[in-house]
Amino acid sequence: MMAQSVAPLGWSVLPFVLSLVTILCNGAAIFCPSKCACPKKDVVICNGTELMEIPMDWPDTLRVLSITHSPLKTLTTNGLRRYSRLEKLKLDWNELETIEKFAFRGLKKLRLLSVQNNMNLLTFGRFSFSDIRSESSLEMHLQDNGVEEIERNAFSNNQGIRKLDLRGNPVRRLRHHSLSGLNQTDFLFLPADIERIDQQAFFNTTRVHLLQIEEANLTDTGLIPHTFDGLEHVTSLVIKQSRLGDLHAEAFAGIETVHYVRITDSQITRVHRAAFANMHNVGVLEVIDNRIALIDRNAFDGHTVQKLRFENNRIHCSCANMWMLTDTRIPRDMLAVNYCMSPARLENRALIDIGAEYARKCPVVAAQQQLTSSASGTPLILSSFLVILLTSFPLISSL
Ligand SMILES: *[C@@H]1O[C@H](CO)[C@@H](O)[C@H](O)[C@H]1NC(C)=O
Ligand SMILES: *[C@@H]1O[C@H](CO)[C@@H](O)[C@H](O)[C@H]1NC(C)=O
Ligand SMILES: *[C@@H]1O[C@H](CO)[C@@H](O)[C@H](O)[C@H]1NC(C)=O
Ligand SMILES: *[C@@H]1O[C@H](CO)[C@@H](O)[C@H](O)[C@H]1NC(C)=O
Repeated sequence: MMAQSVAPLGWSVLPFVLSLVTILCNGAAIFCPSKCACPKKDVVICNGTELMEIPMDWPDTLRVLSITHSPLKTLTTNGLRRYSRLEKLKLDWNELETIEKFAFRGLKKLRLLSVQNNMNLLTFGRFSFSDIRSESSLEMHLQDNGVEEIERNAFSNNQGIRKLDLRGNPVRRLRHHSLSGLNQTDFLFLPADIERIDQQAFFNTTRVHLLQIEEANLTDTGLIPHTFDGLEHVTSLVIKQSRLGDLHAEAFAGIETVHYVRITDSQITRVHRAAFANMHNVGVLEVIDNRIALIDRNAFDGHTVQKLRFENNRIHCSCANMWMLTDTRIPRDMLAVNYCMSPARLENRALIDIGAEYARKCPVVAAQQQLTSSASGTPLILSSFLVILLTSFPLISSL
């Protein structure tokens, strides 16, 4: 057939045809399962196969293995150990339901691991990605699976994980120690729509360059005490475009040696007393471009960050927040760069431009806020306008 089609073109095409035949012949000598392409002898790319598990009898010299659009269901413990020379492993668009403990153990040469778009994969169980211990720099793309739960120590006992992308998984809750053991990761992208972060979710998460929490909705639980406890030697912790609910007392306690913590473009229901207390060795804390309903009088107590930037936030300018205008611990500069979001007639006014006469018109709420703070046992530093308020409301001062 080939000879027939070549003939009319003449002999000049023959060298080309011969070389083509040579390539095809060599190709035939390469190991290559059906429905797979094998561009090199150690590269196998399979799409739309009937494979239900990782084959155990393929050459152990493979460097690149991709199995996609196949009915793969389970990755078993040590199931990839045979392929210890793998540098790239792609298992996207399969029907994975289970990744057993230590499924990727021994893949020391791995540089890319992609497990994406497996909608039946609901859990990253304990130790599922443990013990890879890549000798080079490993990128893990684990986006867009059906994962609702990341169990404790799913990534523990590792090294070399330089990037971990978990976006697009419907994880609702980040559990205690679930990111433990990530100790060299440059970029850690968490799923959006997280609704709850347990205490110490980031325990033993260290030396991460960028840890980003985006589009979380923590409206119900808020950031609870010690959420970030055990997060150490991290360059940047960025929380953005999230509904953070309440920042409870000591929400950030236990953060250790972090270059900067930035909370931006988020909505905060209430910043509780001492919300930023007990962070150790934090360079910069930035709270910028947020909408904040309520800030407790002692919100910034106990913070030891070297530089606090609290700027361009929109604050509900209710009486409950008006202590900021007169409390000497709030620098005037800070009042100049934060603005009212409500009530309507004060919208976009810088706090510094409000003036005490406004505050004077709404005594009761302000006094209540004051009482809340005193109830928690912190000594009061009465601001001048509150002294005025209290004297004009004998009922309250008698409490
Ligand atoms: C792989 O197979 C799927 C489904 O059979 C198909 O939609 C897709 O285009 C294939 N991809 C490649 C790169 O051939
Ligand atoms: C990361 O953790 C692993 C396992 O716990 C450990 O062997 C390794 O030395 C750690 N690497 C760094 C940079 O701390
Ligand atoms: C924290 O990491 C260290 C060293 O990598 C390890 O020995 C220890 O068991 C880890 N602790 C927890 C609670 O995961
Ligand atoms: C955030 O969560 C709250 C409480 O669970 C819910 O009422 C609200 O609709 C959620 N907001 C968004 C934008 O998902």
